[in-house]
Amino acid sequence: VLKKKIAVLAGDGIGPEVCREAIKVLEAVAERFGHQFTFDQQLMGACAIDATDDPLPAQTLRACFEADAVLLGAIGDPKYDNDPSAKVRPEQGLLRLRKSLGLYANIRPVTAYDALLAHSPLKPERISGTDMLIFRELTGGIYFGDKGRTDDGQGAYDHCTYSREEIERIAHRAFQAAETRRRKLTLVDKANVLETSRLWREVVQQIAPQYPEVRVDYLFVDNAAMQVILNPKQFDVILTENMFGDIISDEASVIAGSLGLLPSASVGDQVALFEPIHGSYPQAKGRGIANPIATILSGAMLLEHFGLQEEADAVKAAVQAALDSNILTPELNATSPCSTEQVGNFIAYQVAGGIDCQMY
Ligand code: IPM
Ligand code: MN
Repeated sequence: VLKKKIAVLAGDGIGPEVCREAIKVLEAVAERFGHQFTFDQQLMGACAIDATDDPLPAQTLRACFEADAVLLGAIGDPKYDNDPSAKVRPEQGLLRLRKSLGLYANIRPVTAYDALLAHSPLKPERISGTDMLIFRELTGGIYFGDKGRTDDGQGAYDHCTYSREEIERIAHRAFQAAETRRRKLTLVDKANVLETSRLWREVVQQIAPQYPEVRVDYLFVDNAAMQVILNPKQFDVILTENMFGDIISDEASVIAGSLGLLPSASVGDQVALFEPIHGSYPQAKGRGIANPIATILSGAMLLEHFGLQEEADAVKAAVQAALDSNILTPELNATSPCSTEQVGNFIAYQVAGGIDCQMY
């Protein structure tokens, strides 16, 4: 038996609801394949501020370092969004966590599912067959540079910095992923304006000869924002810096039909973290309407990270069965919607062997 300890940071809003379903599915995997997963729930985000005044308590960070992987729901609360003077924010916990764990590469797959083509506002023939993998740099750039107000308080600044080494390490990962896929890598930057972007291009051009099979393409981020929805099939691996990746990946989720479908993995040199790309969706909290699939698929990426490919494939097949059977939350099934829990139950039962589907 394989024994793994997973730290769970369910967080705020719908985070706990979607994590509950992902854990259910991982438990079904453990049951079917004879593994032992233990789940260590810890506070992070607004819930941690409420309990300890700290969005990332020391105990939470310690639990993450002691775990084999981290599963995260979502963090954030509108009471902070609408208060620009708030000194402590839930997001600081997530950013500090990414930095502390050295999670420099955030990997976000975007797939157009045939069963959901009609749910995208984009034309089906445009998006059908889309399969891209976004590598978003996660611990540098404008998110982590010096920020503050000018001395007279009348101005503000956020510095964007990147080092050659920060670019190299994620670029190598993106090239390696491209080698196993359709062998195309697109660097998204703003090299016509930003010096950091010129450094990204320089570094990528220098590394490229080490991956002779991979075709490299360069796009300015404004053009990329258009191309991603105009002709998404042209993309295989997209490599980009922190903030461009944040924006482009939300945009790309429109292709899948719902933000509630997109998982992500954040990796570095130590423990890896898995989280849906969506936020805490506070309006939906407790209403049973949140789509758990993004978190469940994040669980599948966690299994792949453990080297459990067959197990991950079983989860993906179960998700596919839910899509094909229209066992979906209201944003994807308005006429006969299922609840968060029903979707989770269905997928867990499919994973367990699909023998008895009475429960969902
Ligand atoms: C994401 C989120 C975060 C980010 C926020 C919550 C800080 O939007 O994971 O994409 O901007 O990275
Ligand atoms: Mn985001």
